[in-house]
Amino acid sequence: MKILVIHGPNLNMLGSRETGIYGNTTLADVNTRILELSRALEMEAEVFQSNSEGAIVDAIQAKAYDVLIINPAAYTHTSVAIRDAIAAVGKPAIEVHISNIYKREEFRKESYISGVATGQISGLGTEGYLLAVRAAKKIVLQ
Ligand code: DQA
Repeated sequence: MKILVIHGPNLNMLGSRETGIYGNTTLADVNTRILELSRALEMEAEVFQSNSEGAIVDAIQAKAYDVLIINPAAYTHTSVAIRDAIAAVGKPAIEVHISNIYKREEFRKESYISGVATGQISGLGTEGYLLAVRAAKKIVLQ
């Protein structure tokens, strides 16, 4: 059982980027917690970050995994390509947002991804990734 966690553009700057919205935790810390929890739940996990839409599409298509956890970041609101890749691969996908995208600017309220996702976690901070890891285990065991 393997999960792939994809972080989209600008999430490499977590910890210093708009800390009032995204908090002080760095991406390295988030990834450490994801890998530790996955291990504790006896799952393999791979983490991947890219600022490039094409690289994210390539990862969704090419990497081996049972469940995808993805924070598409700004591509959430623009990317037909990422949506189509998730649909094409046909594996369960959990969409994560650190902030509550429904409480922010109008343009953030639309997700191109949620229509092909198993579920979405939004607004629970970086804890949302850990909730997604737990949900991934349940999804595969079902
Ligand atoms: C985000 C929300 C997006 O609107 C934004 O572009 C991001 C991060 C979040 O995690 O809250 O970069 O996906």
